[in-house]
Amino acid sequence: MEELDVRIEKILSQMTIDEKIGQLNQISSPLVPDEKVFEEIRKGNIGSFILSTTAQAGNDDADNVSANLLNELQRVAVEESRLGIPVIFGRDVIHGHNTVLPIALTAAASFDDALVKECYRNVAREAARDGVHWTFSPMVDLSRDPRWGRCVEGPGEDPYLGSKMARAMIEGFQGEDLAAEDSVAACAKHYLGYGASEGGRDYFKTEISEYTIRNFYLPAYKEAVDAGAQTVMAAFNEISGQPCSSSRYWLTDVLKKELGFDGFIVSDWGAIPQTICQGVAEDEKQAAELCFNAGLDMEMVSACYLKHLKELIEQGMVSEEQLDDSVRRILRVKLRLGLFEKPYIPKYSVDKDKHKRDARRLAGESIVLLKNKDNILPLNLESSITLAGPMVTDKVNVLGTWVLDGNPEDVTSVLEGIKGNYPKCDINYRDSAFEEEQLCVANYKGDITVLCLGETKMMTGEANSVSNIEISDRMINIVKNAYVKKKPIVALLFYARPIAIKEIEPYCDAIVWCGNLGTETGNAVADVLFGKVNPSGKLPVTLPYCTGQIPIYYNTTAASRAVNGYYDGYLNYHDCQAAPMYPFGFGLSYSDFDISFDLSNRKISLKELEEGKTLKIKIKVRNISETDGREVVQLYVKDVAASMARPIRELKQYKGVFVKANNEEELDFEVGYRELGFYNANGNFVVEKGKFEIFVGNDCYADKKTLLEVN
Ligand code: GLC
Repeated sequence: MEELDVRIEKILSQMTIDEKIGQLNQISSPLVPDEKVFEEIRKGNIGSFILSTTAQAGNDDADNVSANLLNELQRVAVEESRLGIPVIFGRDVIHGHNTVLPIALTAAASFDDALVKECYRNVAREAARDGVHWTFSPMVDLSRDPRWGRCVEGPGEDPYLGSKMARAMIEGFQGEDLAAEDSVAACAKHYLGYGASEGGRDYFKTEISEYTIRNFYLPAYKEAVDAGAQTVMAAFNEISGQPCSSSRYWLTDVLKKELGFDGFIVSDWGAIPQTICQGVAEDEKQAAELCFNAGLDMEMVSACYLKHLKELIEQGMVSEEQLDDSVRRILRVKLRLGLFEKPYIPKYSVDKDKHKRDARRLAGESIVLLKNKDNILPLNLESSITLAGPMVTDKVNVLGTWVLDGNPEDVTSVLEGIKGNYPKCDINYRDSAFEEEQLCVANYKGDITVLCLGETKMMTGEANSVSNIEISDRMINIVKNAYVKKKPIVALLFYARPIAIKEIEPYCDAIVWCGNLGTETGNAVADVLFGKVNPSGKLPVTLPYCTGQIPIYYNTTAASRAVNGYYDGYLNYHDCQAAPMYPFGFGLSYSDFDISFDLSNRKISLKELEEGKTLKIKIKVRNISETDGREVVQLYVKDVAASMARPIRELKQYKGVFVKANNEEELDFEVGYRELGFYNANGNFVVEKGKFEIFVGNDCYADKKTLLEVN
């Protein structure tokens, strides 16, 4: 038996049933020393604290818990409880701690896993230094509905991109050594299918077939488990009648047994008694019984386990073996984190300058250039600019939702970024903050107008869904008000969620999707506007033409009467085009790239694939412009005919490559069993013989393809 398991069994063998149940209990941290809480710790009734005092930490100004108090809570656990088991402190360190990164959906546009991983390593160093052992991040929920406020917290509509981002963030948080003092246990959430909430309404039901779950919603969790995620959070939603919190199939049969997850599952805030509301439990005791028997190990703040598990065990409704399994999982994570050896807050210096540099790079790579008529961008270094719109000087909303420890004073605003980096520019600006009623009436004396449009951070995140994603009338008026001045217009979109912009698109010469860029907003925007950074961001989600198109996503199956073109189904809308405004994977550059590869047909046998043989595809990326730049080359696969209908395209590889002006670089892509397979109707991952099309390009419309025959 491994040394870790020996230690676990030794501790477990000494525990009373009350102490075992106490490990499953997470309570909200007190803000000041509280003797009642200390007493509960001494009794062994508290295994964990969530460092938050609100059910919606993403929407409230989070209270910071002092380091002294955290150390005191831990001291009581370690020195004054019978077995001295340390408590584990969890906090929503979602997309940054003091240095706030682009929110996940914005960062996914970078398609740069290595940089995301480096930035999340920085996040862990800042958070662990403040006493955080465990973060409730990354959120890996695939989402196809931008009405859902939480789409911004996840990686978008693609399972492959979502899997790569999940791994990058988890490896960043957890580092090379979980026991290192600057490592933080990650939490893949919300397991699972939360992004399919009906109508984009938060906490609502989802109706997802197992076929769709296994091919779209589950892959990122499989990757998270394979990447070593120490915890998983069960989702609020029910899947076709089964609340995730009380689904033994999904929590135990699939996550713990099939995927081999050996950490612990934590409930979402109050999710266990919420199964009463969902209609599967009559009271808290039954909620505790159902969720615990389903395999939900730790309870966040609602204390149903603490109140009812002992009685349920005595009545034979819950087994002590199951209790021991949950306690083992929690002890395993605490031991892996080294909490028994180093229970108190570490002391090391944090290089905030490096963190800001990395955050600036990630923000720059996350910006997506959607339109650049007559190459109006990049701007001249001595431009005369009119800046207008509510985000010109904003330092709060550009951080996005779920920012508990970020400081708006640290944010570089758009105005500061331009002035600070390009002082020779003549800038006149009119800052119409959100609360101002009158239109933004700038004097527009500049040669070019840069409009900083957006919405407040309270429009996205938890419990912040919308019924329509059309850009607001106020923003439309700002654009039209500027348009009549007959100066070129650059529209910067500071929207974390996809927004329908058909009402402003015709008036803008350039359109740049900025999302929520975080602390380094102004510097990153200035870098891209003036060409210090050549934009390379690609859309991680489809930008719908209008709300009525939702759901619209690239990796759908073809309409039975699809005519031609990507979205041209036979019967489309009378009142709206078939195609989205901009497709998945799309993003312009200041450079021009030509992507080529050998298009000759290829064959490979199923046996060779099963033995691990792969198809090598050498890609040439030529920069046919005078500007150095980075291109994200994407490889898509289509299984032409299979036992189940397969998507029109599926992203299976991508690589960002930097190519100097008038130069060429080569990339090697490999296509093998994993890239060609799918989960069939029986839930088995298979590759089926037959024809495949392999597309390579720089968005999901890539039209250069090679045919592959698997025989
Ligand atoms: C919230 C969220 C979850 C968060 C948790 C703790 O309700 O759903 O993402 O981590 O509670 O704040």
